[in-house]
Amino acid sequence: MEDKIRILIPEDQVNKRISEVADQINEDYAGKSVHLICILKGAVFFACELAKRLTVPVSLDFMSVSSYGSGTQSSGVVRIIKDLDEPLEGKEVLIVEDIIDSGRTLAYLIEILSKRGPKSICLCTLLDKPERRVKKQVTVKYTCFTIPDEFVVGYGLDYDQKYRNLPYIGVVEQ
Ligand code: IMP
Ligand code: MG
Repeated sequence: MEDKIRILIPEDQVNKRISEVADQINEDYAGKSVHLICILKGAVFFACELAKRLTVPVSLDFMSVSSYGSGTQSSGVVRIIKDLDEPLEGKEVLIVEDIIDSGRTLAYLIEILSKRGPKSICLCTLLDKPERRVKKQVTVKYTCFTIPDEFVVGYGLDYDQKYRNLPYIGVVEQ
């Protein structure tokens, strides 16, 4: 059976906002290189769109962690499925995430990645759901959209591995 999906943020708005955030990153990282860490799989669409708009030198690496089961509730357990290929020593690291919900995934990632000697480590997220934050210490430098406490899909985000390919951000109507 098909789920009904309500559009929350249309494609043109997502793309426009990604361009604005990219401009800000270009300004902030002027004269430096940025090492993007894309958190698989959800952040892939966002990371590509963001990277295409960056004019500072970019390198890219991928990491896969799991913090959720197949439902819509955080398990609180973060597991590394695929680690980075490259060392972080001396790099200006920018973690690219699809959504920050409880903040557990990022709190854990920042803790382990900070120990690998990056010059700096900042966060960039497509979406932020601050109402659901458990890990209050997670500070996000770049947020495209702050959204209410609703389960969203599209632009990389899934519901049971479905809907990642939607070009907009939508809400699955129950
Ligand atoms: P956190 O550890 O609770 O911050 O969860 C972050 C991860 O949970 C994200 O990277 C997503 O994979 C997933 N997630 C949280 N909220 C949503 C949502 O509304 N839709 C799809 N995935 C979500
Ligand atoms: Mg994710």
